[in-house]
Amino acid sequence: MRNGGALFAKSQMRSLRLSAGRSVLQGSNFPLGRINGGMKKWLKRVALLFVFLAVAAQFYPTPKNSGAIKGAGHVANVFPVPAEVEAILVKACYDCHSNGTRYPWYSRLQPVAWWMGQHVVDGKRHLNFSEFTSYEPKRRKSKLQAVADEVDMGHMPLPSYTWAHRDAVLTEAEKALVVAWVEETLENLESK
Ligand code: HEC
Repeated sequence: MRNGGALFAKSQMRSLRLSAGRSVLQGSNFPLGRINGGMKKWLKRVALLFVFLAVAAQFYPTPKNSGAIKGAGHVANVFPVPAEVEAILVKACYDCHSNGTRYPWYSRLQPVAWWMGQHVVDGKRHLNFSEFTSYEPKRRKSKLQAVADEVDMGHMPLPSYTWAHRDAVLTEAEKALVVAWVEETLENLESK
């Protein structure tokens, strides 16, 4: 019975404290200090969770796109590619539109690797210079025309790519070179 009495007293104390807390909350002098303390604790937990997730994510590598750029399927096997145009494709397009991506050091970090991987998968699905010969003749022409259009409008390379690859920002002269190459190639096809 002695124990029971102590327990009773304890629960009485607790409900007293609770009601005291409630009356403070209802009062006009809302205790900001206590709210901030709670918020801080909460923010600390969220920050810790993010750190944990960021570390855990490093153990999930993204598959790499590390094949040959210029194999049997390369675009140069169907259309001649002048050296100046090739240089533009190398610095501004192949990372997303070929079988061989050059990976910068920070691409080893997640979620950067994952984000880049998505661009490469998506880019290759739309256009792959390394497997160009597998396209039907009609598709080769339409893809080539799309290259001129995308470059001319400044849609390619993607802005998110040129943020980190400043040398991939194409000058007007480089854009004109790509467009002229496409036009000449298509004209040669027509005349055949
Ligand atoms: C950072 C990756 C990246 C780079 C670099 C890049 N592209 Fe793309 N490209 C994509 C993605 C992703 C798509 C598909 C989604 C879209 O159209 O935005 C695409 C779509 C295209 C298409 C449309 C294909 C179709 O379906 O008709 C063309 C053409 C193209 N790119 C050409 C180029 C050329 C030329 C360069 C270089 C001057 C280049 N891209 C550089 C990622 C890239």
